[in-house]
Amino acid sequence: MRKHWIFLGLCISLLLLRVEEAPANLAADGAAQIPAETNYVALTFDDGPRRGTTDRLLEGLKERGASATFFLVGEEAERYPELVRRMQAEGHQVGNHTWSHVRLEGASTAVIQEEVGKTEELLETLLGGSGYWLRPPYGLITPGTEKLVRVPMVKWSVDPRDWENKNTDKVVQAILKHVKPNSIILLHDIYDTSVDAALKVVDTLEAQGYCFVTVEELLCLNGVTPEAGELYRTGTGTT
Ligand code: NI
Repeated sequence: MRKHWIFLGLCISLLLLRVEEAPANLAADGAAQIPAETNYVALTFDDGPRRGTTDRLLEGLKERGASATFFLVGEEAERYPELVRRMQAEGHQVGNHTWSHVRLEGASTAVIQEEVGKTEELLETLLGGSGYWLRPPYGLITPGTEKLVRVPMVKWSVDPRDWENKNTDKVVQAILKHVKPNSIILLHDIYDTSVDAALKVVDTLEAQGYCFVTVEELLCLNGVTPEAGELYRTGTGTT
């Protein structure tokens, strides 16, 4: 409960900060106009961290004042604890993508609990806190087994298939073609082309007035209270 109130406070602070940052639009007659509503969007990165790509991405996001969400594979997070701590220190959301990137769809209860639980334990050890949100690998979990997951789950609404299209411009175009306010964009911070594409997308959309926030912030900004076992595809809810 306490965490909820702290977060609500953060969410309100974030909104106020964004409003203050928004430039005042002046009409020809000098009268101030109400600035157009800021659009929010969430970048999400799966399968990392990876040395050489994740750190370059973190640097680029910091330069641009953009926040993102990272769904980590436990065995990679164990290899690069400094990158995991840096994500949290720089205001990004850290989440769980199972220990060894197993397909949870069709998996046994024991496998689901082991793969999700081991990564949760590592994140608790590295970062403190608990209840790290889950992105099931491939976005799939067998209907009925969601009750085994005691945290909110995150899917996506924009998928440029960056693992297939290892071409920066193609990935950028695929995102820009489909993105809209409250989109959750799927990328992988283990490819150089995806890091380059993400930073280009941030530059392009920030220039259009978009603001990059974490998935938790995006739901909060839309007044959505995240529920354990629910799968969220956009910032406005589950669909
Ligand atoms: Ni994955």
